[in-house]
Amino acid sequence: MPTTPLLLAALAALAALAVAAYSSCSPGPDPSGELDVEEALPSGLPPTFIRFAHHSYAQMVRVLKRTAARCSQVAKTYSIGRSFEGKDLVVIEFSSRPGQHELMEPEVKLIGNIHGNEVAGREILIYLAQYLCSEYLLGNPRIQRLLNTTRIHLLPSMNPDGYEVAAAEGAGYNGWTSGRQNAQNLDLNRNFPDLTSEYYRLASTRGVRTDHIPISQYYWWGKVAPETKAIMKWIQTIPFVLSASLHGGDLVVSYPFDFSKHPHEEKMFSPTPDEKMFKLLARAYADVHPMMMDRSENRCGGNFLKRGSIINGADWYSFTGGMSDFNYLHTNCFEITVELGCVKFPPEEALYGLWQHNKEPLLNFLEMVHRGIKGVVTDKYGKPVKNARILVKGIRHDVTTAPDGDYWRLLPPGSHIVIAQAPGYSKVMKRVTIPLRMKRAGRVDFILQPLGTGPKNFLPGPSRALPRSLDPQGAPAQLDFEPPRARRQPASGSKPWWWAYFTSLSPHKPRWLLKY
Ligand SMILES: *[C@@H]1O[C@H](CO)[C@@H](O)[C@H](O)[C@H]1NC(C)=O
Ligand SMILES: [Zn+2]
Repeated sequence: MPTTPLLLAALAALAALAVAAYSSCSPGPDPSGELDVEEALPSGLPPTFIRFAHHSYAQMVRVLKRTAARCSQVAKTYSIGRSFEGKDLVVIEFSSRPGQHELMEPEVKLIGNIHGNEVAGREILIYLAQYLCSEYLLGNPRIQRLLNTTRIHLLPSMNPDGYEVAAAEGAGYNGWTSGRQNAQNLDLNRNFPDLTSEYYRLASTRGVRTDHIPISQYYWWGKVAPETKAIMKWIQTIPFVLSASLHGGDLVVSYPFDFSKHPHEEKMFSPTPDEKMFKLLARAYADVHPMMMDRSENRCGGNFLKRGSIINGADWYSFTGGMSDFNYLHTNCFEITVELGCVKFPPEEALYGLWQHNKEPLLNFLEMVHRGIKGVVTDKYGKPVKNARILVKGIRHDVTTAPDGDYWRLLPPGSHIVIAQAPGYSKVMKRVTIPLRMKRAGRVDFILQPLGTGPKNFLPGPSRALPRSLDPQGAPAQLDFEPPRARRQPASGSKPWWWAYFTSLSPHKPRWLLKY
């Protein structure tokens, strides 16, 4: 590949940036990816320069590691496992305490290059990592606040083997499908357990839980890609709240469900119980994306114009085994899918523009993790209660507390009745009002009383019916403390149906996550 357009793109980028401090790493004399040559910084260019070029696997890993080293106080790289051909699936993490979950700090992930030939997301996440690091160091207050209050994980390439196949053909030559699958010829976004069919079955029965649906045994009889397994372990280990998976081939943001409620309908609006919230999440991306907001119908993605460039996945086209449905139905995590543009393997000159268009949407989306409420669930001695359920009246989808008893519940503005409950404890109910604008989730804690100790536990304390904000820096989430109902949980001597599932989750951190 010629180096001239690359240099021109880099120079154009340099000129276009308001703050001159943002540019270069290297003129990248070797975009084909000579693995062992360390890229030297050309003299005169600051270390914050982002090279708006395609990155080979080795270049990607190097940039991520170098970024983590430069921002070692707030960044770290780790691997969640390996691809079929043995490449580490490298994540860069940003947080005020990298490597650790902090109490009540929400976790969010962005995943690119699920389809090996859809490469824009991979590059954008590599640039985002460098941008977050540079801006943090430069003292950008928005980025500092984001990193101080959020744990962000970026996996630029979920399918590094497929990428190699597509990159060998190169931009302009790569077709619509070559390199899409992993090295076993599996489509990773069709390879997750189909919990959506199970969801539709369960949802028709009243009073049955439809969240945290277990994976059935027969799923493991099929071919499961190591990349899929790595993602599943990852999301079972970290209490992710929010996620986006980045694709290419169109220009639209889609949200679950991806699998139609009528299996034989190729297109059918199939909302989750969190339809309102998912729409807000999708809009948080699309509404600040200049191309998605472009009013011309003949543009890329113009057929989604009337819908504001967002769509329910199954209403677009239905498919089974997708990652987003799995996130929502198996864990607490809400995931949307972003189609970044009509060209799956854009030429190098287009990468800087793609970054410019998606930077604000990505930041705006990351900040959405601070919507709704969060808090801790403890017993009366202050001991955290893990796996407690947080229910919201009218939304049949519970989230559960993490091992430290902390939880996050993304909720749209308005009034909600929230209930916390756990086996062996009585329910606690609170009314929460979520304002239109908020920068930090309203804090709502729950203290659970053991079951069967009588009404003396329900003495209304001074805090009752006292609207107040528990989080001085956060939004004024108004909380009414309602008198808890004396009604007990359905008395069941036996364990609930999902009990075995929770107890079967290994309490040990898998070793692969410790490989920092
Ligand atoms: C973020 O945390 C750092 C380190 O504790 C601190 O110096 C900085 O002022 C914080 N910035 C914001 C905006 O919270
Ligand atoms: Zn895709």
